Amino acid sequence: MLKIIVAHPDKEAGAGIVAHLNAQSFQSTLSTTGKDAQKLLSTQNFYAAILHMEIKDHSGYELLNYIKANRPSLRIVITCSATNALLKDDEVMENLVKLGILGVWRPPFALEDLSKIVDSSQNLSFILSKITKQEGQKAEEDVEAKNDDFTSIRIDDFFSGSTVLFDTFVKIGENKYIKILHSGDSFAEERLAKYRQKTEVLYFKSEDRRKYLKILDVLLKKVGKRDDIDDGTKVVMMKNMAQKYVEEISSFGLAPQLLDMGQSLVESMVETVRASPNLIQSLQQMKDFDPTLYSHAYLVSMFSSLVAMQFQWSSPKTLQTLAMASLFHDLGKLDFPKELIGTEVKDLSPENALKYWDHPYMVSRKLSDSKLVDSNVLQIIQQHHEYMDGTGFPKGLKGQKIHPLSRIIVLVNDFCNYLVPRNITPFDAITEMLQIPTTPARYDRQTLFNLCQIFADPEKVKTLTDKADKS
Ligand SMILES: [Fe+2]
Ligand SMILES: [Fe+2]
Repeated sequence: MLKIIVAHPDKEAGAGIVAHLNAQSFQSTLSTTGKDAQKLLSTQNFYAAILHMEIKDHSGYELLNYIKANRPSLRIVITCSATNALLKDDEVMENLVKLGILGVWRPPFALEDLSKIVDSSQNLSFILSKITKQEGQKAEEDVEAKNDDFTSIRIDDFFSGSTVLFDTFVKIGENKYIKILHSGDSFAEERLAKYRQKTEVLYFKSEDRRKYLKILDVLLKKVGKRDDIDDGTKVVMMKNMAQKYVEEISSFGLAPQLLDMGQSLVESMVETVRASPNLIQSLQQMKDFDPTLYSHAYLVSMFSSLVAMQFQWSSPKTLQTLAMASLFHDLGKLDFPKELIGTEVKDLSPENALKYWDHPYMVSRKLSDSKLVDSNVLQIIQQHHEYMDGTGFPKGLKGQKIHPLSRIIVLVNDFCNYLVPRNITPFDAITEMLQIPTTPARYDRQTLFNLCQIFADPEKVKTLTDKADKS
């Protein structure tokens, strides 16, 4: 549940805001003095702060400075009294905007507006309230629309409750689709079954993707820790969310709301992975990975988290940093022309090869515009192709110069790139990779060992790494 701190000098007015937010499924806490608010901010992680400028005993400005210095990614909405001169001063307003304040509100304001601005991505209850439910299903309908307007999902990965949440299509030709389920329909398995033999994928409109992500985000938070839900379902939900999330970024860039959603996704992933010790078996059985950049991001996040969990030093926060870096590590490739993705580096033109060598930095340049991204995440991404023996790129860094979490991504990245095109199991992939002569020198020994412990026989690694020691 997302936590919000409300700092308001008036107990009654503050309690009103808290009650409203809690009714929207936030978990909010009221502080009536600045000191109290600062104490809470120093000990707890909040998603957003609603800050009244006229709070006493540490003023609103002092709190704001504290937040900017210590909790820079916190979302802040400022409230003040109707007579406060703040809103009339252009310079003050400009500075507040520069500080990344989401909004300044002075009474009278509608509480709904306040929660909407805090949760600027679409709110799930809002989505659901817009759906007009009906008994039964509307007839199927032929639709002509551009392929680019649709986003695909495997039939087997398609979840639906009793009500269909968005229009669902099957493709029958170039730019030709049939709408088989309408938003609001009662779910009809028999209609899906009819198409299951003919196609493996369903489509929905790309404009519904944000809605779909929000739903998955809420669902994942609910089921991630439950042990009565099977791991296979959790794996598929995380896969869908991660893939659609990266697709959404590739269409819209790294908007702040999307970064928030990414944070929420990695939190869910880490919680789920930590709470489900047998998840690995579901991943081990996975085959037929699709070779897109989107699913690559998901696989690297999952396997990296699992490898990192084997280290004693790993904490939920480290795992989240790593999962975030894994999700974003190849976003620099999104600017590549489509036909270049998947082309081997040796087959690229000199100009395109340069672009490729630069992709670890390209993405971090994009992300550094956003104050919301942790500098560790950026560093890990920059080093995700650096090998321990200095033969990697772009800087040819060696050994200890490489961030410990980059050492994980670099191995898992190569592992996924080995595994997917060959369509073999993770067990076979690691066993084969261990036979490649460069393997022991390229990767951090303990990291390699951890990956093997997950999938293969650790003894084999020991033999190989011992050999590397002697050479
Ligand atoms: Fe890469
Ligand atoms: Fe990659």
